[in-house]
Amino acid sequence: MLIENNVSLKPFNTFKVDVIAKYFAEVADLSELKELLDDKNYISEKRLILGGGSNILFTKDFDGIVIKLNNSEIEKFHETDEEIFIKADAGVEWDSFVKYCVDNGLSGVENLSLIPGNVGAAPIQNIGAYGVEVKDIIDSVSGLMCNSGYFITIPNNHCNFEYRNSIFKNELKNEFVITSVLFKLPKQKKVNLNYAPLNNYFSGKKKSEITSKNVRKAVISIRKSKLPDPKILGNAGSFFKNPIISKEKYEQLISEYSDLNGYPESETSIKISAGWLIEQCGLKGKRIGNVGVHEKQALVIVNYGNATGNEIVEFSKMIQNEVKNKFNIHINNEVNIL
Ligand code: FAD
Ligand code: EPU
Repeated sequence: MLIENNVSLKPFNTFKVDVIAKYFAEVADLSELKELLDDKNYISEKRLILGGGSNILFTKDFDGIVIKLNNSEIEKFHETDEEIFIKADAGVEWDSFVKYCVDNGLSGVENLSLIPGNVGAAPIQNIGAYGVEVKDIIDSVSGLMCNSGYFITIPNNHCNFEYRNSIFKNELKNEFVITSVLFKLPKQKKVNLNYAPLNNYFSGKKKSEITSKNVRKAVISIRKSKLPDPKILGNAGSFFKNPIISKEKYEQLISEYSDLNGYPESETSIKISAGWLIEQCGLKGKRIGNVGVHEKQALVIVNYGNATGNEIVEFSKMIQNEVKNKFNIHINNEVNIL
């Protein structure tokens, strides 16, 4: 295993921020990972497990070791009368996993097409799009406890999955390296068209055309029409989470702004769109120097050139302040700031 010194992380984060990692290692299998975590030369160093770098914003050089897991197998694990279990390694690119499922005639994951990053990070913020969250299809998550060196498997109901949250972002943050995920997909083919833009896409189409393959195509097309391609414009998807507010607050807002959409989270709370809040503040398309709000999706902050992580953070704080001043709502970061 090669451990390099002073490596630029610019090619390894989708915001394209240029910072240096003191040490950088790409790890191909689990014995190498265990060996590296036990290595006395690095045991006291700060550690960062990196996937595709599509949900990270670096604000300074990383004074420690960055470990990129490259294990890459997908295998059919077992099946029952109702379900098929597929195990995917943490280093598999997320969209390759989605494509594998769709190509093999499986359904349940196609709404999550084209999300950047790797399988290992998918459970961390419980990735979601177009009416599906990854928790809906996860059976269990396996990995290595850094302190004890034990491999453990955590069943879905112990992962504390919530909207853009899980045990891996909280109690197990920096303690647990996810090495693989076991997915559970239904054998009965059923697509989910609950999300309005997806439903619209299929309106008027024949029933036989509503397949997981075509849903994947539709999701890819909708995403490409709104979200910037990180290969062209640095970004990390939604910079903020959609806020969850009380029913009372929602009713007060809707009396003033009739076009505000709300999605019930519980009996007493409603999720509203942070993109809408930002747009109402007149910030959609706003640019300061190298940093801007994406012109087609106000939740996405983009790096137009050589922005530093701190410039991006300052810009994000300006957005938070404007939203707070206009609506008295705090919008929390989705992106991990380091
Ligand atoms: P990274 O950015 O590399 O890491 C994210 C965090 O997870 C870090 O804290 C890292 O240390 C930790 N981590 C990574 N791998 C492991 C591991 N194996 N074990 C332990 N910790 C680990 N997200 C959505 O939910 N829905 C979307 O629709 C969506 N669209 C996006 C569109 C664009 C254009 C972009 C750029 C991003 C989008 N995202 C979306 C955000 C992002 O793609 C997801 O959060 C993705 O899961 C991040 O994966 P990654 O491998 O790049 O993680
Ligand atoms: N909206 C605006 N202006 C905008 C953007 C959105 O008014 O600039 C309003 C519109 O009313 C629109 C609604 O918000 O109908 C929803 O917009 P969209 O479908 O684009 O979804 P979103 O809530 O902005 C969330 C996720 C995305 C995910 C999409 C699709 C979060 C933080 N973001 O965005 O995930 O792809 O739904 O399901 O929940 C990510 O997490 O990085 C990400 C891109």
